[in-house]
Parts: sequence; structure tokens; C-alpha cells
Amino acid sequence: MIKLVTIIGARPQIIKAAAISRAVKTSFSDKIKEVIVHTGQHYDHNMSAVFFDELKIPKENYNLNVGSASHAVQTAEIMRLFEPILEEEKPQGVLVYGDTNSTLAAALTAAKMHIPVIHVEAGMRSFNKTMPEEINRICCDHISTMLFSPTVTGIENLCREGFSTKAKAPYTINNPLVVHCGDVMYDNSIYFATEAKQKSTILSDLNLSSGEFTLCTIHRDSNTDDADNLNSIFRALLHIAGNHKQKIVIPMHPRTSKVLSQQLQSELAESLEHSSEIQIIEPVSFMDMIVLESECNMIITDSGGVQKESYFFKKPCVILRNETEWVELIEQGTAVIGGTETENIIAAFNRLKSKKLNFPPLFGDGHAAEFICKQIYSAVN
Ligand code: UD1
Ligand code: UDP
Repeated sequence: MIKLVTIIGARPQIIKAAAISRAVKTSFSDKIKEVIVHTGQHYDHNMSAVFFDELKIPKENYNLNVGSASHAVQTAEIMRLFEPILEEEKPQGVLVYGDTNSTLAAALTAAKMHIPVIHVEAGMRSFNKTMPEEINRICCDHISTMLFSPTVTGIENLCREGFSTKAKAPYTINNPLVVHCGDVMYDNSIYFATEAKQKSTILSDLNLSSGEFTLCTIHRDSNTDDADNLNSIFRALLHIAGNHKQKIVIPMHPRTSKVLSQQLQSELAESLEHSSEIQIIEPVSFMDMIVLESECNMIITDSGGVQKESYFFKKPCVILRNETEWVELIEQGTAVIGGTETENIIAAFNRLKSKKLNFPPLFGDGHAAEFICKQIYSAVN
């Protein structure tokens, strides 16, 4: 039996961790013991607890309760509180997901204690180092012992940075395993799609008809903290809603809710308030989210995870950023970089609206989590 400590903290990590926890429970319960540490980076019920309940994630063994803070304070606080847990637990590996401050803090803590870091979602790059996530993921990859990349592009990015897919065991921080594994988020979308359709009442709750609404999420700091970008995005959404009589549902991230009233110009705020087409709602559960994704006609987002899910559910996607890590979507033509200029977002929406799209499989076979567990077990054992 090997012991792994899994670090989660932000919403998408809790969702990603569900896939691995499920694989451990169903296929590796005699081989892998998982100890879950929640950093507390996200803490609202609808940003954290709701996912444990519905995705059947085991309750965390530790919660560091770090909450919201500046990057330095949040990262440092996680490191300070995580170190004694690793001293106590003495795991064979620390499993981290994605690119948040929780990811970086846990990886740094473990690597300095000579505990192998296992990075799920390794190799993703936006090539924009003004993004906090780009710094987190580059640093994390370069101190990891096992790097699991969801896409071939991720592997290519790593190879360009000096990694090799030819390393042989024993794997170390100086001789890391680099492997293409598929996407654990795809595992989840497939696994929960049917149950979500049966259980979720979100369409009737919001009075939505299948295929007749657009789903939108916004939370990147480059959009929420930049008044010009945020105004420009909402101007585009109001235009699309008004001119196309298009319902737009926005489950709003708390980061965005907190700044919206200060950032929006008064005439936009007023139009938004009176718009019968745009519905701003609280963040929704994963089951509700995947129903919204599978029943909408278009997704407009700056989220990494929601971009991918647009592909899983075969929906066109306007990306509210100037670049993406998920370049396969652009190459396939299912997603378009809308950026943050009003005209470009509207043009991207119009371009995708009438386009015939194909969604060949790109994100694995729905069993990335089992593959990852198998690789970890044989590498560590
Ligand atoms: C974080 C990640 C980002 C990821 C996102 C997923 C970093 C640097 N960023 O961004 O990569 O895409 O999570 O959602 O790690 N807040 C609440 N309640 C909560 C959580 C946050 O009100 O439960 C508010 C607080 O005002 C907080 C702000 O949201 O200051 C930002 O939260 P934070 O975790 O720092 O960053 P995110 O924008 O959520
Ligand atoms: N998500 C959710 N409810 C919401 C918005 C998003 O369950 O109201 C899910 C979404 O389906 C995806 C993940 O959260 O699985 C994406 O997280 P987020 O957009 O916060 O972060 P990112 O992927 O950009 O890091």
C-alpha cells in the first residue's frame, strides 16, 4: 500500500480530484491510500462543499482554512501549514492539480522535503507570464517527479522545456516521468452526464429551454480586475442578448460578483439590471453546470475547465482571453479567441453561431484517472 497526499483548494481541483478518488476507491483501494488536504483557498458552500457531496469525494482529512489573501500570503500560509502535515503523514507522493496557488504552494513544500510531486494537468502553457497560473504551472512542472499531461500539446511544451518522455524508473525530481494520460475532467463529464440529467432541475428552475440559451462564466483576474476589459465584455454580452434575443446565463464567480458593481460603468450596470435576457446567478453545482453546458447553444468563458467542457459537450466556445492553453479547440475550429474587445467577442459569437462543427476525441477515453493511478502505483512501488 502506498500513501499519497492529495492537495485541493480551488473549485476546479476539487472536481478534478473526484476522478482520482473514484479510481482509487473502485480499482486501487488495496494499493493506494489517499489522504486529502484542503487548503481552504475556496470556502463558500457553492465553491467547495457542494462538490464533495454530489461528486462523492471523501471528506478531507485536513483543512488548512487559509481563505482569501494576496498571492504571497496565500501561498506562504499554505506552505507553512502543509509542512507539518507532510512530516506527520510521510507520504510516498504529493498529488497536485492544475495551476492555482494551492498547487504551487503544495508542490514547493513537498519538493523541498524530497517528497515526489505528482502533477496532474502538467505541460499546459498560455505563454503569458502575466497570468498567475502560468507562473504556478511552470514552477510546479519543474519540481515534479511525475508529470501527467492531458494533451499531446502539453507533452510537446514540456519537451521544449527540456523534459523527456523517455525517462526510465526510478523516477526522481532530476529524472521525471512525463506521460500523456488524457483528461480527468473528461472522465468526470462522461461519468456524471446521465446522473446530472436525471437529478438537475436547473433548466426548469431558470425557465430555460434546451438549445435556446448561452452559458457564460467570467473570473480571470485579467478580466475582473481590469475595468476596461470587464466593461467591454459586458457591452458585448448586452449586445448579443439584445440584438440576437439571446438568453445568457451567467453563474457568477464570487471574485466577479465582488467587483462588478464598482467596475461597471453606470449605463452598462443599468442595462444589465433591466435586461430580461441576461440572468446572473450564484455559482452552480457541478451537476447543474454540466446540464447547462450540455443544453446551451454556445459557451462564452474565460475559464480553462469550462473551455474544455464546451468541447466534451460539443458546444461552440468564445474564449474571453487573448490566448488559451487548450489550443486543440482552436485548431478544430470549435472555439474562437474572442479576447476582450467588444467587437471581437461579438464577431466570434457570430462566426461560431452558424458554423458546422466536429468534435473528434482529443481528451482520452474517459479513464485517465485509472491510468494515472496505475502509473503512480507502478512507479512508486
Ligand atoms: C483561483 C485560481 C484560478 C482558478 C480559479 C478557479 C489562483 C492564483 N487562481 O482564482 O487559477 O481558475 O481559482 O475558480 O490560484 N472568493 C470568495 N469565496 C470563495 C473563494 C473566493 O468570495 O470561496 C473571492 C474572494 O474575494 C477572493 C477572490 O474570490 O479574494 C479570488 O479568489 P482566489 O482563490 O484568490 O482566486 P480565484 O480568482 O478564485
Ligand atoms: N463549475 C461549476 N459551477 C459553476 C462554474 C463552474 O461546477 O458555477 C465547474 C465547471 O464545470 C468546471 C470547473 O468548475 O468543471 C471550472 O472551474 P473554474 O472555471 O472555476 O476554474 P478554471 O477551470 O478556469 O481554473
